Amino acid sequence: MSDKRIVVLISGSGSNLQAIIDHLAQGNIPGRISAVISNKADAYGLTRATNAGIETRVLSHREFADREHFDTALQELIDSFEPDLVVLAGFMRILTPEFVRHYAGRLFNIHPSLLPKYKGLHTHQRAIDAGDREHGCTVHFVTEELDGGPLIVQAPVAIEPGDDADSLQQRVHSLEHRIYPLAVEWFCRDRLALRAGSVHLDGTALPASGFRYTE
Ligand code: GAR
Repeated sequence: MSDKRIVVLISGSGSNLQAIIDHLAQGNIPGRISAVISNKADAYGLTRATNAGIETRVLSHREFADREHFDTALQELIDSFEPDLVVLAGFMRILTPEFVRHYAGRLFNIHPSLLPKYKGLHTHQRAIDAGDREHGCTVHFVTEELDGGPLIVQAPVAIEPGDDADSLQQRVHSLEHRIYPLAVEWFCRDRLALRAGSVHLDGTALPASGFRYTE
């Protein structure tokens, strides 16, 4: 099996990027990150990529008249690396339908909630405010709907009585670092497939909530 080429898009710290870098570095996974692209020049994730010997690019959305022009340029830049998989890892941009369609079945996102709950921002506070007993994170294929698309894997986290948004965010984040590398590994090993809108793992359709990861 030849190595899958992966392009990772970031806007910030890149701790999920780091988790994927570390996981791939363990070897035996047929995948490698060809490039890390950020829309922000000061994203710390760029330093993480450079430290790992990965090519980096910055494409600032501020240099484009509108979303369509930025996404077209971004798509050209990504495609110059001929990726099999594009991984959104804290890439805080809404993407055009054309962009998303172009990468159908090979575009991943991670989101800090048990989707379809709490799309968008401030997910931890919203889960606490709603009185939920469980929160978590999700890796999913991206479709045109913001934070939407078929779910690949979810990791639940119990909400404790003393939790605030920060304490909950920390526990969710450390689970993100488990499930994102796992989903990338499944893709690299050709274990994942998207068929008629449903995610298959090893040939079996997953439930709509994806694979439930527990430690
Ligand atoms: C992560 O918590 C990820 O789930 C979230 O951004 C953070 C990036 O952290 N993404 C979204 O909210 C997407 N809607 P990182 O830069 O340390 O990986």
